Amino acid sequence: MPGHVNRQWLVAKRFTEEVTEQNFRWVESPVPAPSEGQFLARNLWYSFDPTQSFLVGRGDSAGPESGAIPIGEVMRGLAVSEVVESRHPAFKAGDIVHGHMGWEDYTVTDGQGFAPTYRVPDGVPPNWALGALGITGLAAYFGMHEVARPKAGETFVISGAAGGVGSIAVQLAKIRGLRVVGIAGGSAKCDWLLQEAGADGAIDHRTEDVGRRLTELCPDGIDIFFDNDGGSTLDLALDRLRSGGRVVLCGATSRYATGPPPPGPTNYLALVMVNGRMEGLLARDYLPRLREAVDGMLPLLRSGRLKSKEDVLVGLRNAPTALGRLYSGANIGKQLLRMDDTSVDEGHN
Ligand SMILES: NC(=O)c1ccc[n+]([C@@H]2O[C@H](COP(=O)([O-])OP(=O)(O)OC[C@H]3O[C@@H](n4cnc5c(N)ncnc54)[C@H](OP(=O)(O)O)[C@@H]3O)[C@@H](O)[C@H]2O)c1
Repeated sequence: MPGHVNRQWLVAKRFTEEVTEQNFRWVESPVPAPSEGQFLARNLWYSFDPTQSFLVGRGDSAGPESGAIPIGEVMRGLAVSEVVESRHPAFKAGDIVHGHMGWEDYTVTDGQGFAPTYRVPDGVPPNWALGALGITGLAAYFGMHEVARPKAGETFVISGAAGGVGSIAVQLAKIRGLRVVGIAGGSAKCDWLLQEAGADGAIDHRTEDVGRRLTELCPDGIDIFFDNDGGSTLDLALDRLRSGGRVVLCGATSRYATGPPPPGPTNYLALVMVNGRMEGLLARDYLPRLREAVDGMLPLLRSGRLKSKEDVLVGLRNAPTALGRLYSGANIGKQLLRMDDTSVDEGHN
């Protein structure tokens, strides 16, 4: 790609109160060339994940061990990209890959890092490869099947219900025959949960008393709580857990990028009284079982029984805005960004 310009977003400033466009700086550089063991990728689509705040780094805790990207280096995120030149034995020009790439037009990489690069399975469009059939979908799929281990008829409550992970988990729970109550911010998200995702109940945590509504909607208690937000909702759910109840710790968005972290759960001893179980999962560790999740969900996506709800911005310029939407709660479904000039087909539904 000699002669081409590589537009990039660099990490410019640690955050204190919240992550915004002010934390990044736009530059234009020459396109780099791959060395032996590397390949050059043209980035096509990006995923946004709330934990990217750790890459930007909180001002008071962004030491070298924190995992924060050094100031002045390119911001990174999960992306689907096309290999354009390769000196790497595992990849060749034309391959469509999923990896941890820079927020830039072209990335040179050895394919290692936060999530090792892999070829996107045949028949999986890039938006699905980053959402329902990516790390997001793995969290929902294995969080449900391996950690929650649901039985038909159980009551399933989930926070962050209308986000990337939540929107898939809610629908998988319905497909498994569970009674589903989703907690989300705002009436548009609650409407989507009830009218599109098939949830039996929805709680707007911005305007409703979540504890009171949980008691109303789950009069016999909660069998499974799938936690995406952390914070006070976890305490409310622990308090209502039924005998043999399970808590799936998927994420804690409320703790990532705004102000100081809230205190930990105070009601964890409720687990003792119900012989309950609270267990985390790291979707990245399930990547070796990606094929299983794709086989489980691709037919559902193709048939429309499982909808891939996506919020798509267009153009690299909008990458900081896309990330910020996760913390303001503006996104409904999986937050994605499509590069300005991508020509790879997307999945529909
Ligand atoms: N364990 C794993 O391997 C794994 C993998 C992927 C994702 N995750 C985690 O799963 C969670 C959801 O990820 P996602 O990609 O699907 O994001 P998402 O839910 O699509 O987006 C974030 C959502 O979090 C909510 N939120 C933002 N700030 C909040 C705050 N201060 N308090 C409470 N809620 C807040 C907002 O929804 P509302 O408006 O509805 O509140 C926002 O839309 C994240 O915590 C993420 O780190 C874990």
